[in-house]
Amino acid sequence: MSTSESSPVRLIAVADLGDSNVTVVEHTPHGALAVGVSAGKPFAVSNRCRHLFASLGKGSVTGDGRLECPWHGALYDVGTGKMLRGPQGVFKPVAGAVKATTGARALKTFPVELRDGAIWLTG
Ligand code: FES
Repeated sequence: MSTSESSPVRLIAVADLGDSNVTVVEHTPHGALAVGVSAGKPFAVSNRCRHLFASLGKGSVTGDGRLECPWHGALYDVGTGKMLRGPQGVFKPVAGAVKATTGARALKTFPVELRDGAIWLTG
């Protein structure tokens, strides 16, 4: 076995996610991450929204498994990191432009797995 392989890092117990199904885990090897469960699968993505940098770990996972920003409701695919819907509310008239510009740079995604009731960073 190579000594350069990194050991899995325990991020959080699934039971500690709460009703939003996502939270912020600080101080991972990749900095703060938004970590949660979507459609029964764990995920970890970079924590800052591509719009105005809200903490996505303080958002929520929607019923259809998308990560929703807590500030203006942008939606992300947690598998690819892509913004699926631009910001809503006062930003709705420009949501398409925001999605096409700032949203075009996807969130970073990180490999994770479920084990022993917890989410582990595996890479
Ligand atoms: S900061 Fe996320 S949608 Fe505005």
